[in-house]
Amino acid sequence: MLKNLILIGFMGTGKSTIGRELGKVLGYPIIDTDARIVEEQNCSIAELFELVGEQGFRETETDLLRRLLDQRLHKHIISTGGGIILRPENRKLLKELGFVIWLVADPDTILERTSRNRERPLLQTPNPKATIENLLNQRVELYRETAHLSLETTGLDFDEITTGIIESARYHYSHLE
Ligand code: S3P
Repeated sequence: MLKNLILIGFMGTGKSTIGRELGKVLGYPIIDTDARIVEEQNCSIAELFELVGEQGFRETETDLLRRLLDQRLHKHIISTGGGIILRPENRKLLKELGFVIWLVADPDTILERTSRNRERPLLQTPNPKATIENLLNQRVELYRETAHLSLETTGLDFDEITTGIIESARYHYSHLE
């Protein structure tokens, strides 16, 4: 049983920030799939989308997850890109890698958090709010299907979210042992 904690959820739901908090509290190293891809490919996510398209980017996500599982990664925090759940293989790999937590936020909160930078190619549209709602509609069932736990983050502070995740993970693993 691989005891990694994996954060999934839409862009702007706080995966990277919560990942860092969890890493501090648990003392686990953090892997951010976007950051790892940027490092390995030596270009930004936006550049990668331009170079290889969204499907090419999804390939690199799958390849990274396969490698993390192959190396039997253990006791790490993995925060993921918002679309990582789109491929069936990724959903399976994520569940095999550990305890999967889905961070949920409403479209207005997501819009507010993501409008601060232009690093997300999928949201560079004339109407980002509508784009967010559309993508959320397409993805919500996939997040649900992949996650062991879902956590509404709107209105909660980081401490509350982190504590909730750790308690649930302990319960999850105690039941599996
Ligand atoms: C994406 C989310 C981004 C990044 C890429 C695609 C998506 O990650 O992987 O821009 O499809 O939702 P964050 O969720 O960390 O913003």
